[in-house]
Amino acid sequence: MWKLLLKQDLTAEEKQAIIDRTTEYYGKHLNPGFLKYKKSSDSKAIEWSGTGATMVDIHGRRFIDCLGGYGVYVLGHRAPEVIAAVEKVYRRIGMYSQELLSPFQAELAHQLAKLSPGDMKYTYYHSGGAESNDAAFKIARLATGRHKHITMSNSFHGKTMGALSATNRESIRKPFEPLVPGFIEVQWDDLEALEAAMSDEIASVILEPVQGEGGINLPSDGYLKGVRELCDRHGALMHLDEVQTGFGRTGRWFGAQHWGVEADMMTLGKALGGGIYPISAVHGNERAWHRLEENPWWVTNTFGGSAPACACALAAIEVMQRDGVVEQAAAKGELFVRLLREAVEPHKHLIAGVRGIGLLIGVEFIRQEDAVAVAKNLFSKDVLTAHTINNPAVIRIEPPLIISEDEIRQVVARFTACLEECD
Ligand SMILES: Cc1ncc(COP(=O)(O)O)c(C=O)c1O
Repeated sequence: MWKLLLKQDLTAEEKQAIIDRTTEYYGKHLNPGFLKYKKSSDSKAIEWSGTGATMVDIHGRRFIDCLGGYGVYVLGHRAPEVIAAVEKVYRRIGMYSQELLSPFQAELAHQLAKLSPGDMKYTYYHSGGAESNDAAFKIARLATGRHKHITMSNSFHGKTMGALSATNRESIRKPFEPLVPGFIEVQWDDLEALEAAMSDEIASVILEPVQGEGGINLPSDGYLKGVRELCDRHGALMHLDEVQTGFGRTGRWFGAQHWGVEADMMTLGKALGGGIYPISAVHGNERAWHRLEENPWWVTNTFGGSAPACACALAAIEVMQRDGVVEQAAAKGELFVRLLREAVEPHKHLIAGVRGIGLLIGVEFIRQEDAVAVAKNLFSKDVLTAHTINNPAVIRIEPPLIISEDEIRQVVARFTACLEECD
């Protein structure tokens, strides 16, 4: 039966068989909750294919993807150059020997060192953002000999025990407490609060340059620079979580570049694998890395930085540079935000604000129920979106950076129709 999943042209009966088995096995073998609590979509919609900024279900229904796998599809679905690279790799090598040196790991680390701001130049690879954040906490503890971390209100850093300990969202933390000790929450975007919490016990301060799951919250001018100064004054490492904001999403390669700030460590994930292969990374400078030479295996893992993963990232970087994808994200983001602001103008009683940077955009509703209703209605109009994890009143708009202007205008037209139906 599973081979049906590889078939190109399915009959109506075969489609129905796949739908029935998928929904049955989600309930029996994954979690029935996934069928009950879909954020915006119909729980029987089965993903089947994707191309560019379009996601297609098993019936051939085409959605404009404004969710982008929560930020994974910077180059859209199935970027051809990324697929070509990984196909070639697979003809020669599978994953990673764990013993011989990997030329792919070395080349990607070199490229990241060239792209990243400041003096960051070392990299360790993992498969997910939370894993890389956990590794960064360990690196900070090693580098400073300290064991406390400051983390921001409304932050999201992932769901492993370490990353969750830095994540300040009650509903996803509470069932798992006590979490890892040593994480101190301070108010986001408040330098006085940070200064009051700083001490010579702090190993690192972790923050997103723009809070993604917190509701697409941009920092005030001067905030990130202020964090940098406080870290320097107290000997703590500045750790920027660029898992969602990195790799072009905001219209710069890394989100913090908008504010001219250079961190000691930066974590990356999501888009790094070109939308084809999971790969994440912790990237840092000498100050962060200096103890790791003693035992380079302190923060390694089995799958991170396999040849196919690194090849995908390398191909993605090449295409993004060739096509000016990052610059495109900045221009398209400006257009998208302008059109959305015009669209919400007659519906001010529903909307608290439209904000964004590059193609990381949030529309905040006054009432959470309206945000949920509009996200569902957008789905019925063939646009994929979802609310942000920590702030369900905000619908995120996070399409592939290669989305066309025509697609942007279509999304805004359908969004406008949703607002009219919400009135
Ligand atoms: C800023 C940020 N950090 C970390 C993560 C966790 O990444 P992953 O789900 O790959 O573990 C996310 C995921 O949404 C994120 O947005």
